Parts: sequence; C-alpha cells; structure tokens
Amino acid sequence: MYIMAEMHRRKSAFHFILLDKRQTEVIGVINFSNIIIGAFKACYLGYSISEMWQGKGLMYEALMPTINVMQEQQQMHRIMANYMPHNHRSGNLLKKIGFKPEGYAKAYLQINGEWQDHILMSLITKNNQS
Ligand SMILES: CC(C)(COP(=O)(O)OP(=O)(O)OC[C@H]1O[C@@H](n2cnc3c(N)ncnc32)[C@H](O)[C@@H]1OP(=O)(O)O)[C@@H](O)C(=O)NCCC(=O)NCCS
Repeated sequence: MYIMAEMHRRKSAFHFILLDKRQTEVIGVINFSNIIIGAFKACYLGYSISEMWQGKGLMYEALMPTINVMQEQQQMHRIMANYMPHNHRSGNLLKKIGFKPEGYAKAYLQINGEWQDHILMSLITKNNQS
C-alpha cells in the first residue's frame, strides 16, 4: 500500500479499486502504470474484476471515468493496453471503449512461466495539445 501511495505521489502510477455497493469488498482493480511524461505522455492500463462480477458491464463503467482522469487531469496522450489473443472479453472491452489495435507482439509477457503473445492496443487522446 505504501509503495502504491508513493507511486501516486510521484505520478509514476495510479491504482484504482472497485468496491461492492456496501463498500466492504474489493471486487476489481484498475491500474495505470509506467507513466512517462515529456514528449511521450503515455502509460499502460491493466484491469481485472472478480469472476462473480464479470459480464455485468462493471469494468466498462469503471474504466470510463478513470481513463478520463488520466486524459484530462494527468494529460496522458496515449494509454496502452495489451491482451492475449484468446482473451476476447478483454479485447471486446477495449474496442468498446475506443482502443485501436497497433500490433502483435510475440512472446510479450511471461505469465505463469510461459511467454505469451499479446495484441497491442492504444487509446489516443483527442485534442490533447499540452
Ligand atoms: C476482461 C474483464 C476485465 C472484463 O470485465 P467485465 O466487467 O466482465 O466487462 P463488462 O461486463 O464491462 O463488458 C464490457 C464489454 O466486454 C465485452 N465482454 C464482456 N463479457 C464478454 C464475454 N463473455 N465474451 C465476449 N465479450 C465480452 C463486451 O464487449 C462487453 O460489452 P457489451 O456488454 O456492450 O457487449 C474481466 O472479464 C476480467 O477481469 N477478466 C479476468 C482478468 C483479465 O482478463 N484482465 C485483462 C487482462 S488483459
């Protein structure tokens, strides 16, 4: 928790949590990491929600305002998100938000000990001149 707060203070990463209605249980997480400013103004997006809460539109609902914070308040020009080709849920979610495919990376991330290919996506902020 301290590390997350410190990254937030340094603006190198922002972590959001999704709570249930009673605000007693964390049901999901959203993070914007590896934030680079200067001429790049870009970061990576990661997200996940507990299985019992999936497919109810909640991640879409949660991503919209958090992406808005990163674009408007943190002045991000490019938000990148990548998913494994079989993860259609994640791909459809990104497309619904407006992310566009940028490429296909072989052996991109090591997950459970296996190097996995990923589809690279990004969302470019419109009218972001600063
Ligand atoms: C990927 C994940 C975050 C999606 O969250 P979610 O809350 O289930 O998604 P939503 O209900 O908000 O759905 C948003 C869109 O995703 C797509 N989607 C959702 N469920 C889907 C399914 N079963 N099959 C295909 N597409 C699906 C649809 O496009 C949907 O929009 P629509 O309902 O208007 O068609 C969630 O499934 C998850 O946490 N999975 C495990 C972790 C993971 O894969 N993280 C991402 C790593 S890249």
